[in-house]
This record gives sequence, structure tokens and C-alpha cells, in this order.
Amino acid sequence: MALYPEFPAEDQRHHHEALMLAVQRVLQSGRFILGEEVKAFEAEFASFLGGGHAVGVASGTDAIELLLRAKEIGAGDGVVVPALAPSAVAAAVRRAGARVVLGDVEDEILTLCPQSLREVLKRQRGIKAVLAVHLYGHPCDWKALEEVCEGHGVLLIEDASQAHGSRFEQKAVGTLGKASVWSFYPTKNLGALGDAGVVWTSEAGLAEKLRCLREYGWRQRHLSELPGINSRLDEMQAAMLRVKLPSLSAQIAKRRELASRYLSRLRGLRLPVVREGCEHAFHQFVIRSEHRDGLQAHLKHRGVPSAVLYPAALHQQPAFACVESFPVAEKAVREVLSLPLHPYLSELAIEAVCAAVEEFHP
Ligand SMILES: Cc1ncc(COP(=O)(O)O)c(C=O)c1O
Repeated sequence: MALYPEFPAEDQRHHHEALMLAVQRVLQSGRFILGEEVKAFEAEFASFLGGGHAVGVASGTDAIELLLRAKEIGAGDGVVVPALAPSAVAAAVRRAGARVVLGDVEDEILTLCPQSLREVLKRQRGIKAVLAVHLYGHPCDWKALEEVCEGHGVLLIEDASQAHGSRFEQKAVGTLGKASVWSFYPTKNLGALGDAGVVWTSEAGLAEKLRCLREYGWRQRHLSELPGINSRLDEMQAAMLRVKLPSLSAQIAKRRELASRYLSRLRGLRLPVVREGCEHAFHQFVIRSEHRDGLQAHLKHRGVPSAVLYPAALHQQPAFACVESFPVAEKAVREVLSLPLHPYLSELAIEAVCAAVEEFHP
């Protein structure tokens, strides 16, 4: 096996037989959309989170759009998004018809900064929701964000797409508020073999509305009661996710074990912090260096893969450009570097990464 196998491919190899059986099961069922597999996965994923309702949709981006639509947040409304986030988050807000309003992130954990949010809510009218992204798998400062939102009539939504398996004060992230959104893009901690997503909610009525909105607004076939869209989780992807879900907890434990090796071994860099009361799922292991580009080039030369998530803050991207600046996010995009981390990496691989990092002298 290669020293640095890629996560989705290796995970697929690991589960190969079970996946093939699941494919056959779907083929034999003759049902490909919103059938028993989707129903079962929704129940199993909700149970993994400790309860509530999971509504399967076609992607994480759609999960955001559908949740905003279900809460009737759209034209003229503002939705706060952290300036350091995947562009999918801002794109989904736009798709719902709402306005993207950016806030800066906290320097320590790079999630939405409560103080920055406070200022945004003071300054801007018409904010209806806040999307708190648990970036890289570290829970955002949920309590502080909740406190800021209190009294503003703003819906605080968790985007847990990078945080399957993270916990905040012993509670699964995604269940900290009333609703959360999830992506199962193949590289996520729990990944499908294509696109897939979920909206989770503690409210049965909201779940029912989401089920209606994900399929043309139908409550009854061919009768659109609400202005819905087509964003259904398909049977094949649900079946793939059902194969993988039972090993998620063990995979997160392995990610944590490998992350603690990095943390005890690496010196002279800014390493990821795990705040008290938080359990990090280490979707990404992100270090920070003022010499990031040189370090990345050096690692590449040594055959060590790495990635920059994200190369630009949202306001630095033409589609979301605005006049404001977000200094913490701007500094972060110059410094962040993801080192290899997933459950199929060997200790030898982690050791080789650390040795290559140590060799780098800017
Ligand atoms: C935090 C976050 N939100 C939303 C998304 C969008 O998910 P998808 O790619 O499934 O549409 C992603 C995935 O890239 C993500 O990481």
C-alpha cells in the first residue's frame, strides 16, 4: 500500500464487499429514489446523533438551501456566514435568495467569532439566520454564539459538514440547536460515493416540511403545496452510507489517535488547539505557518501531500467580494496547511510527515 493512500478510495476498498452487497440489494429492490434505504439511513443517522429527525437530501449545499427555505428565509433577508468557510456555504445562502453577510473568525479555532457576530448584528438590519460552521471538525464556540443571537430573533444553524463525530460539552455537534446541515461528500468523515446530505432537526414539524420541500413541495404525489425543489437523497447513496456509518466512531477515534501523535511530535509551528469541553473530529489537521507556501513546496518535494483549505476568504473571491475586510480570516488563508490525516494512515506515515516538516528551515 502507498504510504499516503487517499481517504475516500481507501475507505471504499476497506468496505468493498459490504458496498457491493448493498448495491445488489438496491438493484434487486427496483426502487431508486426515496425508498427503504433512505428511510433506514435517516433513522440510523438520527440515532447516531442521539435522536431527532434526519431528512436526506442531495448534497450539503442543498441542505442549507432547503433549511433556509423551510424557515422562510429568503429575498431581502441576511444570513451571516463566517468569512473563512467553503464557498458552498455562501452559494447555498444565495440560492435560497438571501443575502450573504460575512463575519470574521476567531484566531484560535478559526470558527465564527462571537464578538464579530455581535458587531454584525448591531450594524446590519434584516439578519434572519447565522450559519455556524464547525470548521475542520472543531466545534465552534456554540454557547457564546447562542448568547449573541439571543434577543435578536435570529436562527442559529450548525453546519456540521466537517464535524461528523465531534462533540461540544458531551453533546454531538449538529444537535446543539434546533437544526443542522450535513454533507456526505466523499472526502468527509462520513462520505457517500457521490453527493449526499442531510438536514437534521429536533422538530417533527420542520422535518415534515423539509420532506415536502425536497420533492417539489409534494405532500401528495403530483400536488405541490409548497414551492419545493428536487433534492432527494437517492437509494444507492443511502445504502452506501448505511455500510459506512457503523465504523464512523472507530474511524474518529483513529483520527484522534493520529492527531495526538502529530501534536506531541511537531514543534515550532502553530498546531490545532482543542478547547476544553470540545471533542475534535479532526476532519482536517490544520497547522499554521508564516512560511506556509515554502513549507508546502518542501513537503511536496519530499512526496508528502498537503492541502490549503481555503486559499481565499469568501470576500476575497469574486463571487462574494465586498468592501469590508476580515483580518483574522485574511491572515488564516495565508497560513493554513492541512497535513495528511485519516484513519487509514499508518504511524509510519505520520512519522515521515513529521520528519519532513522538521527538515524545513525557512
Ligand atoms: C462546511 C461545509 N458546508 C457545506 C458544504 C457543501 O456540501 P456539498 O459539497 O455536499 O454540497 C461543505 C462541503 O464542501 C462543507 O465543508
